[in-house]
Amino acid sequence: MESSLRSRNLKMIRPKLFGALVVVLAVSGFPATESRQPSAAAGIEYSALNCRKHTAVITDFGAVGDGKTSNTKAFREAITKLGQSAADGGAQLVIPPGKWLTGSFNLTSHFTLFIQKGATILASQDESEWPVVAPLPSYGRGRDAPGPRFSSLIYGTNLTDVVITGNNGTIDGQGKSWWVKFRNGEYKSITRPYLIEILFSDNVQISDITLIDSPSWNVHPVYCNNVIVKGLTILAPIDSPNTDGIDPDSCKNTLIEDCYVVSGDDCIAVKSGWDQYGIQVGIPTQQLSIRRLTCISPDSAGVALGSEMSGGIKDVRIEDSTMINTQSAIRIKTAVGRGGYVKDIFARKITMKTMKYVFWMSGAYNQHPDDKFDPKALPVVTNINYRDMTAENVTMAARLDGIEKDPFTGICISNVKMTLAPKAKDLQWNCTDVAGVSNRVEPPVCSLLPEKGSPMDCDFPADKIPIESVELKKCYV
Ligand SMILES: *[C@@H]1O[C@H](CO)[C@@H](O)[C@H](O)[C@H]1NC(C)=O
Ligand SMILES: *[C@@H]1O[C@H](CO)[C@@H](O)[C@H](O)[C@H]1NC(C)=O
Ligand SMILES: *[C@@H]1O[C@H](CO)[C@@H](O)[C@H](O)[C@H]1NC(C)=O
Ligand SMILES: *[C@@H]1O[C@H](CO)[C@@H](O)[C@H](O)[C@H]1NC(C)=O
Ligand SMILES: *[C@@H]1O[C@H](CO)[C@@H](O)[C@H](O)[C@H]1NC(C)=O
Repeated sequence: MESSLRSRNLKMIRPKLFGALVVVLAVSGFPATESRQPSAAAGIEYSALNCRKHTAVITDFGAVGDGKTSNTKAFREAITKLGQSAADGGAQLVIPPGKWLTGSFNLTSHFTLFIQKGATILASQDESEWPVVAPLPSYGRGRDAPGPRFSSLIYGTNLTDVVITGNNGTIDGQGKSWWVKFRNGEYKSITRPYLIEILFSDNVQISDITLIDSPSWNVHPVYCNNVIVKGLTILAPIDSPNTDGIDPDSCKNTLIEDCYVVSGDDCIAVKSGWDQYGIQVGIPTQQLSIRRLTCISPDSAGVALGSEMSGGIKDVRIEDSTMINTQSAIRIKTAVGRGGYVKDIFARKITMKTMKYVFWMSGAYNQHPDDKFDPKALPVVTNINYRDMTAENVTMAARLDGIEKDPFTGICISNVKMTLAPKAKDLQWNCTDVAGVSNRVEPPVCSLLPEKGSPMDCDFPADKIPIESVELKKCYV
């Protein structure tokens, strides 16, 4: 992987770099044989689940950072080659400053993709550079249309120990051409690609990068365990179609923290499969902690639970977050035919400004993968706890629509102060087919959530989920 050009460069700069290298190596504890620090990035510190013994730069594989040359082959060859180091301390691939145009590529285990500040991975708009992959088993079809899907730009399946990070480098999905074609109905039998999708994997980290203009969803870990998503800036036009920020889907033990999302769809959408396909696969999303999220999404939710929730969603904690100019803060979306459950949901310390609805539950989110869903598969929505929140400039406090003969129960709302917008609705709480309690909430709550006599707070777990106790290591490129 070491081109003659690189060796020459290294030789030329060796005298200057030597002091810095010794420091880096001593601090990181790298063996002395690891002398291939990329000069452009020498000494950048970052935090990761694991550090790597081997380092390469994408230019080692002939990539050209001019924003025009396709580097698809370079990315694919680099990762295939670096995958050979998996059993020997793993490898990191550095993307240095420049614009690196590429089609879809696959990750490998014990691997770190490091996107340096000033570097942009630019998604190709040539559809032939995007392999087609099968629908997810828990969806039965693509989300946009019946049939298969374009692979995500960065795709990984059946991996362990994989890190996508940087010091705020960028991935630019160049989504506009996909959005236009989608709106024109040109994808009748295939689904648009996501930016990052990781399936069936353990120990996944996605952190400290900026994602812009995804063709569709941005970050989609599905059927994964032990996932850390942190320090992401996710930006897309607020009218772009389905540009969800982060969608943990049938995953266990996930931490999402310190993310900033402005998008055309839900900032975070928690999922677990769609109708009969999701019921059949039956993998819930559980043990999920979301904290310090900042969300702007005028037409969607800060955190959505569903609408695909057929494998179940349980034990979700949301705290210390800010939603501005967002349609609703937390929204539960489900329908007859979904089955599954949304239960043991806990949210506290959320600050909101300019909200259409603060709380929204929708029992009639009737999008189905096909007409074979089971009308007897009723979702269970119970033990939903919201406390310690403020919201300014609110149009409507809450729309809580349960399902007839399948009410949403165990709803608890305490210590929430909402102040109304100049053009607020006359009816602030519209509740049907729900049951629960409230305490110290303004404006006054609907009669189905009666005020409890003595002051009380809704539950929030005192324990942590396991991934919150994982300490990241200090690594270097
Ligand atoms: C990535 O892996 C998937 C699943 O194994 C495969 O279908 C796809 O073609 C691979 N993509 C590339 C670019 O090799
Ligand atoms: C990945 O893991 C899943 C679940 O264990 C399995 O069904 C699938 O066959 C695996 N795929 C590959 C490409 O190994
Ligand atoms: C990363 O870059 C984005 C886009 O330029 C910027 O908005 C954000 O503040 C940066 N984040 C950090 C931590 O530097
Ligand atoms: C309050 O909300 C309205 C929409 O209801 C919006 O047009 C207005 O800009 C908001 N005011 C402030 C001060 O943010
Ligand atoms: C209250 O919600 C119900 C159920 O969604 C709806 O049918 C009704 O129109 C709503 N009432 C008002 C005044 O918005």
